[in-house]
Amino acid sequence: MAEENNNIQAAASKPSVPDKPKPPAAKPSAPGKPNPPAPKTGAPAKAGPAKRGVYKPSEVRAETNPFKDNKRGAVQSWMQERFYILNPVIDYLKKKEVPQHRLSFFYYFGGLTLFFFSIQIITGLLLLFYYRPTEAEAFARFVYIQTEVPFGWLIRQVHAWSANLMVLMAFIHMFSTFFMKAYRKPRELMWVSGFVLLILTLGFGFTGYLLPWNELAYFATQIGTEVPKVAPGGEFIVRLLRGGEEVGGETLTRMFAMHVVLLPGLVMLFLSGHLFLVQVLGTSSPIGYKEAGLIKGYDRFFPDFIVKDGVAWLIGFALLIYLAVVFPWEIGVKADPLAAAPDGIKPEWYFWAQFQLLKDLKFEGGELLAIIIFTIGAIVWTLVPFMDKKASREEKSPLFTILGLLVLAFMVIGTFRVYLEYGW
Ligand code: HEM
Repeated sequence: MAEENNNIQAAASKPSVPDKPKPPAAKPSAPGKPNPPAPKTGAPAKAGPAKRGVYKPSEVRAETNPFKDNKRGAVQSWMQERFYILNPVIDYLKKKEVPQHRLSFFYYFGGLTLFFFSIQIITGLLLLFYYRPTEAEAFARFVYIQTEVPFGWLIRQVHAWSANLMVLMAFIHMFSTFFMKAYRKPRELMWVSGFVLLILTLGFGFTGYLLPWNELAYFATQIGTEVPKVAPGGEFIVRLLRGGEEVGGETLTRMFAMHVVLLPGLVMLFLSGHLFLVQVLGTSSPIGYKEAGLIKGYDRFFPDFIVKDGVAWLIGFALLIYLAVVFPWEIGVKADPLAAAPDGIKPEWYFWAQFQLLKDLKFEGGELLAIIIFTIGAIVWTLVPFMDKKASREEKSPLFTILGLLVLAFMVIGTFRVYLEYGW
C-alpha cells in the first residue's frame, strides 16, 4: 500500500495528462457516415488532431493504454491511469508544511493518538476472535485469553495499555492545541470534531471497562450508569444504558455493542473529518510567532514530518510493549451481582476528576448540580473557538488561557485527590 501511495505521488509530480498519446490508428469518421476502408498494407493512415473532450469509441481511440510506452514503471502507469483524478490533491498535499518552533514538539500528539487508536483496532479485532459477551462466559473467556491463547496475554495487555495511552495522548493533544490557540479561525471545526472524538474515546473506556465482567468493573459501572438518574429524563438514559433496572447481562451486551460497533463507527466518521481538515487547513503556528520571527523553519509534511511522526510512533510502541510486559493489568475476580460492593470502588483514572466533584457535592441536589456543571462546561468548551474573538483576529487572548488553566487545574487536582485517597 505504501508503495502504491509512493507510486501515486511519484506519478503525480508529472503532468496528469498522458505524456504523448500515440496517433490514432485511423481517422474517425463523422457521426452517421461509414468509416473509410482501412489501407491494406504499409503505414497506417495519418491521423488528424484529436478533438479534446469528444467521446471516441474504443476502436478509434489512439491507444487503449496511453501510458503504456511512457517512462514510468508498469505499476505507476497502472495507478496513474486509474487515479489521475487525485493528482491535484496529491500536489496540494505535497505543499503542506509544518512550522518548526519551540512548541512544535506538541504537534506529535495528534499523530500519537491516531497511532494508539490503530493499535486498538488491531488488538480489539484479535480479542474478538475469543471473547464472548455473556454474563456466564465473559470472565472465563478473559481468563482463557490471558492464560491459554498463544500470545493472548500480550494482546490483552497491549489493548488495555494502548487504551490508556490513547486517552492520555488525546488529553495532551487537546490541551496543547488549546494553549496554542490552534482552534482559532479557520480551524474551529477541527476543535469541535476533536472534542467529539475525545468524548467518544472516553466512551470507549467506559464501555470497555465492563467487558471482563470482574467485580471492580461491575460495581464501577453500577455507579457510573447511576449518575444521569437525577437529571430530567435521566431515568430513561439509565435504563437505556443498562437494558434494565440493574447492571446485568443485558448491560454487558449493550456495552459490547457500543464498544465494538457504535463507537468505532462514530470515531471513523469524526476522525475522517478531523484528518481531512488537518490536511486541507494545514498546521497552525501560535499567535504572533511568525511576526516575532520565532519560526525557525518549515518541515515538508511529506515526507519529512511523516518520518518524524514515524519515529514518535516507534517510541510510543516501545513504551507500550514495555508497559504491557512489565506492568500487566490484573484480571480480578468474577463479578457477583448479589454480593455487597467492595470498598474503594472507583472508575478509570480519566474519570477521577468528575468522580471527585460528585463526591465533593454530596448534599441534597449536589449530583444534579454536578451534572449541570459538566453539561455547561462541555458546551462552553466546544464553543471556545467561536467565543474567542481575539484569537480569531490573531491577537493574544489571556482570558481564554486562564480558562484553559482552570480546566487543567480542575482535572489534575481532582485526579490527584482520588489517587491520594484510593491509590492507583
Ligand atoms: C481520537 C482523537 C484524536 C485524533 C486521532 C486526532 C488527530 C489529529 C492529528 C493527526 C492532527 C495533526 C497533527 C497535530 O497537530 O497533532 C490533529 C490536529 C488537531 N487536532 Fe486532533 N485528534 C484527536 C482529538 C482531538 C481533540 C480532543 C481536540 C480538541 C478538542 C483536537 C483538536 C485538534 C486541532 C485544533 C488540531 C489542529 C492543530 C494545528 O493546526 O496546530 N483533536 N489532530
